[in-house]
Amino acid sequence: MTLFPPRPSQSRLQVLCLAGFMGSGKTTVGSLLARQLAWRFVDLDDRIEEAAGLRIPEIFERLGEPAFRQIEADQLRAALGRAVEHKEPAVLALGGGTYAQNGAPEFLRAAGVPVIWLDASLDVLLTRCMTMTGRPLFRDEPSFRALYAQRLPSYQQADHRVDSSGEPARVVAEILRRGIISAVAGHAHLVVEEPKP
Ligand code: S3P
Repeated sequence: MTLFPPRPSQSRLQVLCLAGFMGSGKTTVGSLLARQLAWRFVDLDDRIEEAAGLRIPEIFERLGEPAFRQIEADQLRAALGRAVEHKEPAVLALGGGTYAQNGAPEFLRAAGVPVIWLDASLDVLLTRCMTMTGRPLFRDEPSFRALYAQRLPSYQQADHRVDSSGEPARVVAEILRRGIISAVAGHAHLVVEEPKP
């Protein structure tokens, strides 16, 4: 069953999505990018926690992963709906598994939302995740590697791939340099702050 049934495309959505595995920097890079562009920043994991009234590990523990995925899909749709309502551009950081769910790449493509895959080497991702808690799907190195390999073909469907191994400010600078932003619903550059060298 797909969690992302096709729906009529939402016109002129000014949303840029960041996808990528756990530890790829979606939240850090996304909030920095949004600040530089003076766009709204939306973190899908925050929306999920708010909707469920539970922290992510508790959702996995009490409701299970399928319920988590359903809330995630619902919140993705809701976030895009709000973007249409607000009529203001937004950077949306997905969860690590969002883009790898059945139908998600097609759903975002149909909605006209460009997706940037933040990619880093598995060693970098592993090192970052080892020092952080609150990720129920980060258990041990072999399962982490296996999950990455399983999701890789999904991430490869993103419109852009940007290396996110380095400093977040440099990743933002690379996204701006590549002109990806001007492709978001024809929106002009709104850089309010020069990226630091
Ligand atoms: C998940 C990644 C997490 C969060 C949840 C599930 C995944 O997001 O959505 O724990 O399936 O990889 P981050 O990538 O922001 O940690």
